[in-house]
Amino acid sequence: MRRLLIALTCLAVTHGTLADATETAVAPTVDYASLPPLGAAWLAANPYRGREEAPLIGRAAYNQACARCHGADASTNAAPAPDLRNLDRACRRIADAAIKAKCMADNDAWFAKSVRGGKIIVGVTHMPPWDGVLPQELAWAIQTFIESHVGAPK
Ligand code: HEC
Repeated sequence: MRRLLIALTCLAVTHGTLADATETAVAPTVDYASLPPLGAAWLAANPYRGREEAPLIGRAAYNQACARCHGADASTNAAPAPDLRNLDRACRRIADAAIKAKCMADNDAWFAKSVRGGKIIVGVTHMPPWDGVLPQELAWAIQTFIESHVGAPK
């Protein structure tokens, strides 16, 4: 009986997640005027790594726009959507600088593609597309925040 209850609870949680996942993307209200403007055409790589203010701005934007699915402060792996701290995991393990740079470039392309296009899988919106909603300045700032591993490091 207890197992059945747990299973039913899990089912309810899963369905709740799906209901959330059909929500549309809403732009975070975060001031990013201190970041160099990037324009409308998306860059191939994150231009903000190493900028002190980028993770702070990214953190605020992440918590408004991404946290409800990917976990508060990018510091939990108990959220319904994937733990985004894993995105640069493979790259971080590479010692060779040139290979690491290539890995990060691939990572940036994947991040931008995922964020811009969202995740619509066999007609179901798992993540809404952020293109035209989230300025690329905030997208790259969010990525620098995730990579800063402010939450419990993995
Ligand atoms: C409505 C829930 C939801 C919101 C809000 C959301 N995501 Fe997602 N996201 C998902 C789900 C679910 C997936 C995994 C989809 C799949 O591949 O099954 C995902 C996947 C991703 C991926 C690819 C992850 C990987 O492991 O390859 C990235 C990057 C990403 N999201 C970034 C973001 C960012 C940045 C934000 C905030 C601007 C955001 N997401 C907001 C639900 C969401």
